[in-house]
Amino acid sequence: MAETSINLEGTKEEKYQQLIPMIHALVNGETNRIANLANVVAALKQGFDFFWVGFYWVDEESLILGPFQGPIACTRIAFGKGVCGSVWKSRKSLIVPNVNEFPGHIACSSASQSEIVIPLIRNEKVIGVLDVDSDLLDDFDTIDQKYLTELCNWLADNLV
Ligand code: SME
Repeated sequence: MAETSINLEGTKEEKYQQLIPMIHALVNGETNRIANLANVVAALKQGFDFFWVGFYWVDEESLILGPFQGPIACTRIAFGKGVCGSVWKSRKSLIVPNVNEFPGHIACSSASQSEIVIPLIRNEKVIGVLDVDSDLLDDFDTIDQKYLTELCNWLADNLV
């Protein structure tokens, strides 16, 4: 594979508009799910320098930690627990401006201050979630929600 350098320019919205087609191209050339999720988080980390970005994948009763970039994280999250488990249960994305004020938030890193979690839904079931954490308060907005949702919808439809 040719080297893929990720130098995004402009506003946050413009950066997402540049990054998402790059991710489509990365994923389209490979069928292995773990390899694809690993490159998606690497692209997101490289593009936006997120503090923590990764996937949790549904496995029977738990979300299991998948490919991620950032500090070591909790390996299992139960249905309905924490921000990720709440998104699994509600099937709706969540922006948490201050994780310290979210009842039941699971603090994998005490440095994490705000968070956005997006579900991947296939055949009306959550198959996994994308979790992005920031060490700044109130770091995610509806632009992140719009583009990360677009990305997760595409991944749910296109990943094996
Ligand atoms: N904070 C998440 C747990 C995952 S870590 O942030 C990587 C939660 O409350 O579900």
